[in-house]
Amino acid sequence: MTDYRRGFEDLTREVYEPELPVEGDWPEWLSGTLIRNGPAQFSVGDQSYNHWFDGHAMLHAFRMGGGTVSYRNRFLETQSRTEALAEGKIVRSEFATDPCMSLFGRIMSVFNPKPTDNAGINVARLDDAYVALTETPIPVAFDPETLETVGVVDYDDDVDAQMATAHPHVEPDTGRTLTYQVAFGRQSEYQICSIPSGSAARTVLSRLDVDRPSYMHSFGMTENYVILSEWPLVVDPLDLLLRGQPFIENFEWQPDRGTRFRILRKADGAEVATCTADAAFAFHHVNAFEQEGEIVCDIVTYPDASIIDELALDNLRSEKPSPGTGTLRRYRLPLTGGSASARVLSDERLELPRLHEASARARPYDTVYGIGTRTEGNFADQLVKVNVGSGTAQTWQADDTYPGEPVFVPRPGGTAEDDGVLLSVVLDPANDRSFLLLLDATTFSEQARATVPHAIPFGFHGQFFE
Ligand code: CO
Repeated sequence: MTDYRRGFEDLTREVYEPELPVEGDWPEWLSGTLIRNGPAQFSVGDQSYNHWFDGHAMLHAFRMGGGTVSYRNRFLETQSRTEALAEGKIVRSEFATDPCMSLFGRIMSVFNPKPTDNAGINVARLDDAYVALTETPIPVAFDPETLETVGVVDYDDDVDAQMATAHPHVEPDTGRTLTYQVAFGRQSEYQICSIPSGSAARTVLSRLDVDRPSYMHSFGMTENYVILSEWPLVVDPLDLLLRGQPFIENFEWQPDRGTRFRILRKADGAEVATCTADAAFAFHHVNAFEQEGEIVCDIVTYPDASIIDELALDNLRSEKPSPGTGTLRRYRLPLTGGSASARVLSDERLELPRLHEASARARPYDTVYGIGTRTEGNFADQLVKVNVGSGTAQTWQADDTYPGEPVFVPRPGGTAEDDGVLLSVVLDPANDRSFLLLLDATTFSEQARATVPHAIPFGFHGQFFE
């Protein structure tokens, strides 16, 4: 198979390569480690997971310095994976896969739920630990050098929640982490939590009662506010317990509800306004900032939640996959509440949006990077750099290759939003390999590539750690 579908096949080999072959000029100044996360095993025994989000988490580390790049990959040794391998079948419930359970097993699981620790979406620093994250509040710590799993991080608090975002924000000025969680119960609630730098204790800044929680993959943050975007994909919490189907399938699309933006003030946790907009769905907030009594909130949106089903493995492995890219939309949310305005910022489709964090986060900005769609009917097959003011874009593509999330690394001292490089793992199915692409962010042209000795399945998110 020489097309994008190679990116949805298992990778079970774990390697360490002290020096990858490099073509081009790998910058001497680029010093640190890109750690990426994503699924790498999509079946156990004769059972398959249903969805791209469900495969066993694997970490990939590209350590660079002095113009060279090393590579290591390793599965996260989670309970979810360990139990599955030991029993030769799927044991824990994932995002869109539910293990076959006897009635007895199902009843027991209601009283003794085993939420997944398959932390395959993102990575972050928490306290002194490097952690892998998914959408349960169960961070899994790992050694950034060896990628060996250290174990689940026990938060040093008694905050109770069942769902969490894999996209926490780190405040540029304080270094504290803000995250969003959902506690399901007789009275469910959204929680905004603060974790001070150097701590593993969550403090709940804000609680919002909610009867039908929305599925929200990420949230927005400005200097003074947090923004929850309640897409009308909602769940009756009782269904999570009683209906016995995969987690996400309990959520119902109810477009008549529209979209509700909940604006919460960081200083005291108060909800200062709710703004409404037409029904839409999104995974990724791009950026948000305050401007003249409004919050400007940029999000990669979809007309509805069908993108979730489109990212099921059966569809992604078909002849016509979803391109997996959405529309960059700007919402303006009055701090006095009421209707939000919405406007498409660019015709260029994108996903997995990234910024120059230090220069752009939570302030007026120009540039977003992401994966994009060059060919309709194909999986994401280019990288894009979109100017959010003009809507114009620069693109990078190479025939029959499939780039992943581009991570921006500023040049030392560089403050311009494109003064630096982008790092993207690109699948090259014809050669049965992936390579780490290094783009000059200003010209958006290839500066170098480092070739990995195998094809890396499509992943989600990664971070560059200095
Ligand atoms: Co994400």
